[in-house]
Amino acid sequence: MPIVITGTGSALPKKVVSNDDLAKFVETSDEWIQTRTGIQQRYFKTEGESTSTLAIEAANRAIESAGVSVDELDLVVVATATPDHSFPSVATQVQAAIGMQKGAAFDVAAACSGFIYALSVAENMIKSGSFSKALVIGAETLSNLITPEDRTTYVLFGDGAGAIVVENKTEEEAQGSGVIGTDLFSDGRFKNELYTDGGVSTTASAGHVVMNGREVFKHATRAMSGLVNDTLVKYNIEKEDIDWLVPHQANKRIIDATAKHLNLSADKVVLTVGEHANTSAASIPLAFDKAVRDGRIQKGQLIFFEAFGAGFTWASALVKF
Ligand code: UT7
Repeated sequence: MPIVITGTGSALPKKVVSNDDLAKFVETSDEWIQTRTGIQQRYFKTEGESTSTLAIEAANRAIESAGVSVDELDLVVVATATPDHSFPSVATQVQAAIGMQKGAAFDVAAACSGFIYALSVAENMIKSGSFSKALVIGAETLSNLITPEDRTTYVLFGDGAGAIVVENKTEEEAQGSGVIGTDLFSDGRFKNELYTDGGVSTTASAGHVVMNGREVFKHATRAMSGLVNDTLVKYNIEKEDIDWLVPHQANKRIIDATAKHLNLSADKVVLTVGEHANTSAASIPLAFDKAVRDGRIQKGQLIFFEAFGAGFTWASALVKF
């Protein structure tokens, strides 16, 4: 039974922070940030905004665009590394806010790869027959995990949320659309290359992001090329079959390298890192929603989603929209 993406939505905090804004109190420059990463600005949460408020806003937009009634939804999966509370989950906060009173809601943690992990969880729970219509959300407020005292990470991250609705459909209803496959990977030997130096059970605080940027860059580029090759073989598709690359938005140089590996021209890559910076698990659904709403991504097109993040974790999803 096909599992189809029927709606998308996203949300950003009110406050935009440019590279020049950061350069006023951090030893950095617009030129350095843009050349190394492609980032021009990011959004930081303000008073009253949080991971859950952004997730709820994105969820409501996705529900509206899918045209489903909340009563039909039976699953909420939120990917986040920056929940409002240790518990309850952001997913149950979303569930309450949208007025959904049945089914199951929970969070998953896979850092920047989280959204594809969440999609895979929802896909397989629907495939099992236990659930039928899910909200899959990536939502983050990374601004709380960075400090101006570490310029190597402070300039890279931002806040935001993106959501999709996925539903099981009959072959006739789906008309060829649906999730073709999700593939998840991790290698915990690299856990010390990208981590937070705090945590509930260690320092009783969230801590800050610590990253060995060069090492992460090297592995991310290599893993993404490997994912492309493996996906083409596994699903028996040609590079030319892919209409859009919707990658995790960490660094334009990593995205360019993946696009090159796919022989995809820049106009087939959804690039939002300039506008949103790295919003971790939120970056893919944010980028996807933007390109769907501005009409670039059309129904029936083949989309390749890919991500790489702390753990290391990495993942891809191939979806006929
Ligand atoms: O989303 C999860 C996955 N994360 C990623 O994929 C991130 C992967 N890594 C990267 O994107 C890149 O490694 C960075 C953008 C983080 C850094 O770029 P880089 O080209 O690897 O720079 P670098 O770390 O090698 O630093 C180069 C220089 C250093 O100075 P020296 O030692 O050469 O004198 C840094 O101290 O740039 C300096 N630097 C800065 N200068 C101005 C580091 N951060 C900054 C800054 N502003 N914000």
